[in-house]
Amino acid sequence: MAFVIGEPCIDVMDRSCIEECPVDCIYEGGRMLYIHPDECIDCAACEPVCPVEAIRPAQRVNEDWRPFQETSREAFAEIGSPGGSPNVTQPIKDPAFVAQYEKP
Ligand code: F3S
Ligand code: F3S
Repeated sequence: MAFVIGEPCIDVMDRSCIEECPVDCIYEGGRMLYIHPDECIDCAACEPVCPVEAIRPAQRVNEDWRPFQETSREAFAEIGSPGGSPNVTQPIKDPAFVAQYEKP
């Protein structure tokens, strides 16, 4: 099960994680980035580089993080599995949960 990006990434989008991913499975959306749930190989390289601790492995997904695990899947419903972020030319459309999310 893949790593998941959560709420701290929204409107921050530091992008350091992208540089670390060996399989380019971290894709840009409008307000945050999404890890492709099927393309991620669980290497863990991205987790320590995020300055706002927005990345967690599936084992550490708690109730707060779970909606983001679901939106990670929803985000790719239309485009499927592009085989790496260089293969997409536009940001992914944020699922409604993220688009409407109000940060505290
Ligand atoms: Fe977001 Fe952190 Fe990556 S803020 S873009 S998950 S480095
Ligand atoms: Fe997945 Fe992060 Fe590695 S997104 S493939 S665990 S760099």
